Amino acid sequence: MQAVAIAHPNVALIKYWGKRAIAGNLPATGSLSLVLGGLSTETLVRFEAGRQGDRVLLDDREDAETSARVTACLDLLRREAGVQDGAVVESRNDFPTGAGLASSASGFAALLVAAAGALGLRLPAARLAEIARTGSGSAARSLLGGIVLLNNRDATTDCTQLAAPADWPLEIVVAVTATGQKAISSRQGMAMSEQTSPYYPAWVDSHAADLEAGVAAVRNRDFRSLAELAEHNCLKMHAVMLSTRPPLIYWTPATLACLQRVRALRAGGLPVFFTIDAGPQLKAVCLPEAADEVAAELSAIDGVCQVLRSPLGAGARLRANGD
Ligand code: DP6
Repeated sequence: MQAVAIAHPNVALIKYWGKRAIAGNLPATGSLSLVLGGLSTETLVRFEAGRQGDRVLLDDREDAETSARVTACLDLLRREAGVQDGAVVESRNDFPTGAGLASSASGFAALLVAAAGALGLRLPAARLAEIARTGSGSAARSLLGGIVLLNNRDATTDCTQLAAPADWPLEIVVAVTATGQKAISSRQGMAMSEQTSPYYPAWVDSHAADLEAGVAAVRNRDFRSLAELAEHNCLKMHAVMLSTRPPLIYWTPATLACLQRVRALRAGGLPVFFTIDAGPQLKAVCLPEAADEVAAELSAIDGVCQVLRSPLGAGARLRANGD
């Protein structure tokens, strides 16, 4: 009744910000993401016979909100397996948690794979994605590797791998500009945007076109189109955040400095573009030949405390010997 799984966070190029329904945590739009193989979450789940309630440790700490979300996911799996035992969950990230590096995505993907493994459950991929989504909308995307499309139709979520890591070996350089937990989580922030941003309806209405063009750019391995589109979609989401009341300003001065540097590098011919989620870190997506120069340039910016490099990674999986 115990298993350990590994999952990687993902970064969306065409983003999810807002929900169609709170029940089932259904995103308002689809999304397109890259899995960051260089950053990992490792999660152990152990169901204990007769145990009442779950104990959830994230990087050795307990937190009531995370525990409630984890228990809600585990309840769905317990129902599938017909068991009632409580579980001990120990999850660890090798990167800053809750700071805009999608720790909830890798966390829930690893949780689901470990818990399903511990219970001996073999669920269809769509059902696993649906349960992962209830934990975190972006988590379903970390179940698969490489470049992933999450489609949302009605109440269903389906995830498709558009490219495996070897099909288009992009590299991601993450400029970490602050490592503290963000004050407002994505979940809280998007609910505020839905209610108060006058731009939110336009964000949702213009999303399908971005997603379609993003999928086409990936299928055609058209880096230049993907670059322009991903930056546009990212800035459009941040325009919604900025126009939320009270405003959601996730950037630091260094985030903006990195953004401008990436734009200047691309204008100078380097194949690189930026994206930024609900946090202060900038992710620079590069063709492999540009990664060394991008990493050196971003490291030199005032306020950048760390630069992480990552190739595309695999989907969530049970830990195998040697992992
Ligand atoms: C800005 O998946 O963390 O990273 O479903 O409420 O848990 P919940 O939100 P979450 O939101 C991700 C928001 C984003 C964009 C994205 O990853 O698509």
